[in-house]
Amino acid sequence: MTLNVEFLKSLTEKYGSYVESFCDSDGKLPRMMDLKKTHTLHVVENAKAIAAGEGFDERTSLACEAAALLHDTGRYEQIRTYNTFRDSESVDHAKFSYDIVREKGWLDALDEKDAILEAVRVHNMRLIPQEVEGDLFASTIARVVRDADKLDIFRVLEDEIATNDWKNDCKAFWDLPVMAEPNTEVIRAIREKSPVNYQDIKTLADFILIQVGWIHNELNFKTSQDLCKKRNHLEFRRNFLHQISSSDEIDDICKLQN
Ligand SMILES: [Fe+2]
Repeated sequence: MTLNVEFLKSLTEKYGSYVESFCDSDGKLPRMMDLKKTHTLHVVENAKAIAAGEGFDERTSLACEAAALLHDTGRYEQIRTYNTFRDSESVDHAKFSYDIVREKGWLDALDEKDAILEAVRVHNMRLIPQEVEGDLFASTIARVVRDADKLDIFRVLEDEIATNDWKNDCKAFWDLPVMAEPNTEVIRAIREKSPVNYQDIKTLADFILIQVGWIHNELNFKTSQDLCKKRNHLEFRRNFLHQISSSDEIDDICKLQN
């Protein structure tokens, strides 16, 4: 069958019941899981906004929404089993999400099953792999989910900075040194428009600069770029980098485009 509004509604209900199965005996979702649930809701909203802004047909728009809903399905089991969201210390959460959705059979009746599953599987990869790139429908959905996810990761970071005592407790940011200059390798990678190597992340400034690189080089759609501008994500990062570093490269690397 072809994906339609009713199917997406019932998929959303199935996903909701699955998430609820992780609630404590008091009926509450543990805090770390609740953050992921909120993140997912925002990623779905971002995906809808991108699909609308790009003028996609209904089938493509609904597939983007379904993939956004499912993209982090594995996060709940990941934190329950491994007590961390760090993939390097547990599982690749995108592959884990893909496996769970497949095993649940939620998409089995759909013609769009493979494309949606692929968008889930590749959402955290540095680049979209060739086999997905070659399929226009699947790669469009994958691109939308990747943009929608990044746009919400921008919100999450700003929220963490606003609510955490980050100067004294940098756990949310991998315990990186806070008041420290950025690594020149990171700055070079962003200038060259190449993905930042995660081994080069030595300071909080580097961590923030990864996202500056995403803003400049990795948002796939004009609508995503427009949303990013409207939400002032680049400006926020420039101002924050000035708070934690005295590097004279900041203004240049965070130059607002057009
Ligand atoms: Fe994810």
